[in-house]
Amino acid sequence: MIRASIVGGAGYAGGELIRLLHSHPEVEIGQITSRSRAGKFIHSSNPNLRKLLTKKFCSPDELTGCDVLFLCLPHGVAMKSIDHYMSLAPKIIDLSADFRLDSDLGYEVAYGKPHLRPELLQTFTYGIAELHRDRIATSDYVSCAGCNATAVILALLPIIQSCSVNSIVAEVKVGSSEAGSQSSEGSHHPVRSGAVRSYRPTGHRHVAEMKQALNIGAVSFSATSIEMVRGIVATCHVFSEQTLPKERDLWKAYNLAYLNEPFVRVVKDRSGIHRYPEPKQLAGTNFCDVGFERDADNNRIVAISALDNLMKGAAGQAVQNLNIMIGISERIGLEFAGLYPA
Ligand SMILES: NC(=O)c1ccc[n+]([C@@H]2O[C@H](COP(=O)([O-])OP(=O)(O)OC[C@H]3O[C@@H](n4cnc5c(N)ncnc54)[C@H](OP(=O)(O)O)[C@@H]3O)[C@@H](O)[C@H]2O)c1
Repeated sequence: MIRASIVGGAGYAGGELIRLLHSHPEVEIGQITSRSRAGKFIHSSNPNLRKLLTKKFCSPDELTGCDVLFLCLPHGVAMKSIDHYMSLAPKIIDLSADFRLDSDLGYEVAYGKPHLRPELLQTFTYGIAELHRDRIATSDYVSCAGCNATAVILALLPIIQSCSVNSIVAEVKVGSSEAGSQSSEGSHHPVRSGAVRSYRPTGHRHVAEMKQALNIGAVSFSATSIEMVRGIVATCHVFSEQTLPKERDLWKAYNLAYLNEPFVRVVKDRSGIHRYPEPKQLAGTNFCDVGFERDADNNRIVAISALDNLMKGAAGQAVQNLNIMIGISERIGLEFAGLYPA
C-alpha cells in the first residue's frame, strides 16, 4: 500500500482527491491538511464523505513523512515551501501552476512575478499522460496540467500531430468550481447564477502551457464562465493554409492519438442528441471526450473537447499520474462512468 497525504484537502481539488483516494485499492490516506479546519472531520468540508472517512484535518505544521504528497494549494504557495514538502515524501504530485512551465521567463510572463525556485522547473514533469506517459513513469515530481489547458491540449493534439496548422482560436466555457472554494464578489450567488460572463477574453495564464505542451507559437484563447458547477467545454477553431484533411484522415489522426487511451474517447456521432463532447455526462469522471468537424468553406477544423475540471482537469489526472508513477495500471481507482441522466 502507498501512503498518500494531501496538503490543501479542504479545497475543491483536494476534496475530489480525497474522494478518489478513499476508494483506491492501492492507497492508504495518511494526513490531510487544512489550516482553517485543523481538528475538524473531513466531512466538515466534504459532506459527500460523511461516514465513509472518519479522519480529521490536521494543520500543515503537523505533516509527517509519507510515500506520496499531493499539493492542492493556490498558485504561488507550493514553491514557497517546496523544500519542506520534498523532505517529507520521495514523490510529489503538484496540482497548482507552480511547476508546470519549463522556463522561469515563461513563468514570469504568464504569472506576472518571478519564479521563486527556477532551478526546480526542469525537475517536474508536465502531467498529461497522453503526452508524457513515459517521462511520468520515471519521475518523482509531477506537475498536473491546468484544467483549461488539458481540455484544449487534448482537443488539439491529433490535429497538431497530423496537419499543418496556420492559426488556432480556442474558447472554453467553464463552471464555477474552477475558481476554487474561496468565495468572492464574482461567485456570490445572485451575481454568478445564470451568468454568461466573459472572464478572460485575452491573456489567460494557461496559454503558456498550451503553447509549451503542443510546441506551437500561438493560440488565441478566451474563457467564459457559464451556469454550471463542474465542467469545461472547449471549442477550438483550427485554420490551415493547405488543403483541409479529408474526414477519414482526421479519423485516422484521432484514432492514432487516442484509440489506446483509457481516458480519452472520440465522440462524433451522425445522429442523436449527444453527437459531440458534453461536460454534463462527464461530471465526476476522469474522461475527456473529444470530437471534431470539418468546415471546408472556411478551411477550418473545429475541435471540441469536454471534461470535468476537478477530475481529468485536476484530481483524476493526479491519480492517473500516481498510478503511472508507482507502476500500476493507470485505470485503477478511476474507471467508472458518470451519471446519466444527471
Ligand atoms: N478548481 C479547479 O477546477 C482546479 C483545476 C485544476 C487545477 N486547480 C489548481 O489546484 C489548486 C487548488 O485549487 P482549488 O480549486 O482546490 O482551490 P481552493 O478550493 O481554494 O483550495 C485550496 C486549499 O489550500 C489551502 N491553503 C491555502 N493557502 C495555504 C497555505 N499557505 N498553506 C497551506 N494550505 C493553504 C486552503 O485551505 P486552508 O486555508 O484551510 O488551509 C484551501 O482549502 C490551485 O492551484 C488550482 O489552480 C484547480
